[in-house]
Amino acid sequence: MTGEESAESAAGAGTDRPLVRSLRLGLDAPRIGPLQAALALASAPLGWLNAHRAGFLHGDEEALLTDRLHPRRRHGLLIGRYAAKCALAALRPDLDPRTLAIRPGVLEQPVLSGEGTANLGVSLSHAGPVAVAVVFPEACPMGIDLERIRPANIALLTRQTTAVERRNLAACLAVPEAERLTRLWCLKEALSKALRCGLTVPLDLLAVGRVEAGPTGLGVTFAHFAQYRGLSLAAGDLAAALVLPRPPAVTLAIDAAEWAAFREALAEAAAREMR
Ligand SMILES: CC(C)(COP(=O)(O)OP(=O)(O)OC[C@H]1O[C@@H](n2cnc3c(N)ncnc32)[C@H](O)[C@@H]1OP(=O)(O)O)[C@@H](O)C(=O)NCCC(=O)NCCS
Repeated sequence: MTGEESAESAAGAGTDRPLVRSLRLGLDAPRIGPLQAALALASAPLGWLNAHRAGFLHGDEEALLTDRLHPRRRHGLLIGRYAAKCALAALRPDLDPRTLAIRPGVLEQPVLSGEGTANLGVSLSHAGPVAVAVVFPEACPMGIDLERIRPANIALLTRQTTAVERRNLAACLAVPEAERLTRLWCLKEALSKALRCGLTVPLDLLAVGRVEAGPTGLGVTFAHFAQYRGLSLAAGDLAAALVLPRPPAVTLAIDAAEWAAFREALAEAAAREMR
């Protein structure tokens, strides 16, 4: 499961085969030096994941798959770990994914272990058969989220956002309201994962601040967490967000063409389910 194989599977996948796209992120942290992280998106049916799980799961992860798990939860566990192992393969192609385990920590946060993963963290999110994951140096904490854009959620999401957030986003992004609200939700959830608190805090604490359109999609700051920034992406009925420390602590270098390819993979993952 190398980065090259991932790119190939994204190009030639049929709907019964996994779709994978990974992306290395170069980070410049002036106080530490250059750092590397990797992002991956994966989509695969439960049948494929069940049949191929021995190729990427650690024994401790297999043990999480008890018979009592609802198929939906089983699918989430498998596709989330598959996406995380794809991100790991992009960052450390020398490591065998079966020797690396992602177990829940005491706050249910994903904790990565295994030889070669010292000081690496992971964040992941799943929506049905699709998942995104980011593997990052603990020196530079990150969080990620993925959601389906559903017009039926407009009323609920409106209650979870402030008028200022909605106004700022609408000024920058001429897309349907459901997409704007879902992007805001994703950004907050990704921040909550970077902070490890999850959505157990008042949502106002996670409020989005400034919003601007940039080459890597939509970029935001957070009203109460000035150390962090968020990148928001959407394609089809999927929205995703990545949260990481902002400049001057860390500057992110992403190749524009690779970022565009990542967005295309998100569009393809969304389109697969429509077929
Ligand atoms: C974290 C949370 C926002 C995830 O939201 P979601 O929409 O249900 O699911 P997503 O697919 O986006 O993300 C799920 C992943 O988030 C990660 N996650 C769970 N709790 C987390 C936390 N506290 N910090 C960071 N990541 C967390 C897990 O990797 C999980 O996937 P997995 O269980 O398959 O490993 C939500 O579950 C939450 O608020 N949890 C808090 C629960 C909590 O604090 N429990 C304490 C128990 S003592």
